[in-house]
Amino acid sequence: MWPNMPIDYIILPNDEQGIHFGLFVNNTLISVVSLFIENKEAQFRKLATTNLEQGKGYGGRLLSHLITYAEGKKVNKIWCNARVDKKDFYLKFGFKSTNTVFIKHKIDYVVMEKMIIR
Ligand SMILES: CC(C)(COP(=O)(O)OP(=O)(O)OC[C@H]1O[C@@H](n2cnc3c(N)ncnc32)[C@H](O)[C@@H]1OP(=O)(O)O)[C@@H](O)C(=O)NCCC(=O)NCCS
Repeated sequence: MWPNMPIDYIILPNDEQGIHFGLFVNNTLISVVSLFIENKEAQFRKLATTNLEQGKGYGGRLLSHLITYAEGKKVNKIWCNARVDKKDFYLKFGFKSTNTVFIKHKIDYVVMEKMIIR
């Protein structure tokens, strides 16, 4: 996501409290995502597939796995701060845009969420 930035720029508060998922192909890490569950709500951060492997279904498989995992934890909602230019990707997985938008590091974001109905 930030291939040219130092680690201090990338680290977020509470990163160490997340559950970190990786999708591996032949022992090579291809896609990553981190999950934070609090008050029956699951936030995921930093979903990313390595540049050369994008568009091959890996990020989607990892996100589907994360959704199933979070549903198993009985959360009511899964949400993320989505880059606006990635909105259509999340729509494919049942996420909906909210009215919450912001700009960080010159990138437009929209909060997207998926309610879990039982
Ligand atoms: C966004 C990202 C994680 C998607 O991962 P990926 O492994 O390339 O995605 P997949 O190949 O699994 O795509 C799954 C589906 O979403 C679609 N898709 C992928 N990127 C898309 C995009 N930017 N806009 C719309 N659809 C997209 C694919 O075409 C595919 O559709 P299909 O199932 O109908 O064929 C990846 O592009 C990435 O790492 N980007 C840089 C980091 C980033 O921006 N992360 C998201 C921050 S919000």
